[in-house]
Amino acid sequence: GTFNNILVERTGSNNQVGVITLHRPKALNALCDDLMTEMNTVLDDFEANSDVRTIVITGHGKSFAAGADIKEMADRDFIGVYSGNFLSHWDRVTRCTKPVIAAVNGFAFGGGCELAMMCDIIYASSSAKFGQPEIKLGTIPGAGGTQRLTRAIGKSKAMELVLTGDHISASEAERIGLVSKVFEGDQLLPETIKLAERIGAFSQPVLQMAKEAVNKSQELSLAEGLHLEKRLFHSSFATADRREGMKAFAERRAAEFKDE
Ligand code: HXC
Repeated sequence: GTFNNILVERTGSNNQVGVITLHRPKALNALCDDLMTEMNTVLDDFEANSDVRTIVITGHGKSFAAGADIKEMADRDFIGVYSGNFLSHWDRVTRCTKPVIAAVNGFAFGGGCELAMMCDIIYASSSAKFGQPEIKLGTIPGAGGTQRLTRAIGKSKAMELVLTGDHISASEAERIGLVSKVFEGDQLLPETIKLAERIGAFSQPVLQMAKEAVNKSQELSLAEGLHLEKRLFHSSFATADRREGMKAFAERRAAEFKDE
């Protein structure tokens, strides 16, 4: 289908990478309700389509996403947001079983930074900027900015960003571990797609186990996390791909994974 606020394409070998480009040029890709609904529809599609192996989310122009749509939120009241559970549909990305990579090409503020942090890996362009400016609007982050950011960069730095609304550069974000790699602007998307293709070449069910284990580290105690990891590790032995991977190593050839 066609969408008003995002562009959707398939790329990479065998079109195995699904790319969502946030595209609301008049508002620096601010995440209005309609945009999030469209993105969720596409994520449902990508998840259901076994030809799509990895997902990339990026933004059009000089912005990844300049936050939730402030103009859309401005007149809402407490009872409305509370009883309607405002923004409850924002966490679709976190429920993807396939790897999701954010390619942050510019402003990632407020909900934009939070959306990036819902992804599994963040790559950024050298001009990217990250921040949680909600305090300047008289509110606080509402889609993970106080929780995921703190886990990603530690309490003092997260608290500084959340309490000042200041933003940080891509290189600072890389230095403190929010971002895993930084590229010159024109290299960001090609490098992200390359990464998506490399990851997509592995066994899909085993990728899913690996992703689940790493993500659970953010939620479980160490003992529970180690237990889950061990069980998922054991589970990988139920796959033909695990057998093939180890056999291929012994035979000094490349493994051929079949998602089985
Ligand atoms: C609605 C937005 C917007 C936003 C920008 N625009 N950000 N509209 N919601 N979040 C609109 C502007 O109003 C303007 O429209 C157009 O996009 C271009 O923006 P400018 O400000 O003129 O661009 P520039 O001078 O380059 O400044 C870029 C900027 C600034 C620094 C990113 O736009 C900015 O500070 N935006 C708000 C960032 C923010 O506070 N984000 C957090 C939102 S709250 P017009 O029509 O005037 O030309 C949030 C809460 C999340 O995310 C809660 C849980 C999800």
